[in-house]
Amino acid sequence: MPWKQQITFHKMESEFIRKDWVKIRGVPMICACSPNWDRIDNFQAREEDIIIATYPKSGTTWMSEIVDVILNDGDIEKSQRDVIFNKVPMLEFWVPGAVPPGSELLDSLPSPRVVKTHLPVSLFPKSFWEKNCKIIYVARNPKDVAVSFYHFDKMNQLHPEPGTWGGYVDKFIQGNMGFGPWGAHVKEFWARKKERNILYMFYEDMLEDPKREIRKVMKYLEKDLPEDVLENICLHTSFKAMKDNPNTNYTAISSSIMDQSVSPFMRKGICGDWKNHFTVSQNEKFDEYYQKEISGTNLSFRFQV
Ligand code: A3P
Repeated sequence: MPWKQQITFHKMESEFIRKDWVKIRGVPMICACSPNWDRIDNFQAREEDIIIATYPKSGTTWMSEIVDVILNDGDIEKSQRDVIFNKVPMLEFWVPGAVPPGSELLDSLPSPRVVKTHLPVSLFPKSFWEKNCKIIYVARNPKDVAVSFYHFDKMNQLHPEPGTWGGYVDKFIQGNMGFGPWGAHVKEFWARKKERNILYMFYEDMLEDPKREIRKVMKYLEKDLPEDVLENICLHTSFKAMKDNPNTNYTAISSSIMDQSVSPFMRKGICGDWKNHFTVSQNEKFDEYYQKEISGTNLSFRFQV
């Protein structure tokens, strides 16, 4: 390993591995990504930017690849030009001394840029609203989000240790999670939809009928691609294809950050895995939490497809 890499690896290991969340205006953030928050507040959006906003583990990578292929008119070869985290950089991501800030990477990309973010509305850079960027929001039922996030926290060394599953369910219900509470996240973007042209998508709908849902994305992006191209996009973005694709399965990330021997990034890709994790009493408690969260809204989620 080159000398410089050894240094940065060592620095990263000592500073950011398994550190607790750091609060940014009350929102728990990945410790490594928390310094110099001005870079996010002052991020300069462009009118042509397409934002993919999600609560973590809701289908961000899936939607990112779909959008990238659509923008490339279904040309799979072009979509294979780079790994997903370079094609669709995560705005807030940064590991000082090891990985450059997503905001810098974005500055260097030509338009139209596709921006990934897990930031809640309260931390959204204001230029996204000012420039009236297209925003695609993907939401997923919270039981499967909790299960997926739990496995992700176990394998992602930049996140704190998740502890026991039982304790994790309680933390989720209390909203003590990276990027803040699930409920506020999905509700705030849902509310913004009334005044903004946000495409609000559901992971479960995408699983049920990927073709139908990809058509919605195409329409929103003002792309009219022929049926055979659409079918090809469905195949290329299927769970199996993305799990086997080194550009989308995150195996390009060092195992010192994402240890896929603990849990693969492309884990199961289904609806209803929560049934294999929740006990009867955890499920009752969670149902109560869920009802409270969505009451007073016309939002609803499917827990099986
Ligand atoms: P599981 O952990 O339940 O398998 P994100 O990209 O927001 O981090 O979300 C990751 C979740 O989306 C993981 O869920 C992953 O398996 C799932 N996923 C990724 N690509 C998918 C695809 N093409 N089809 C279905 N699910 C997919």
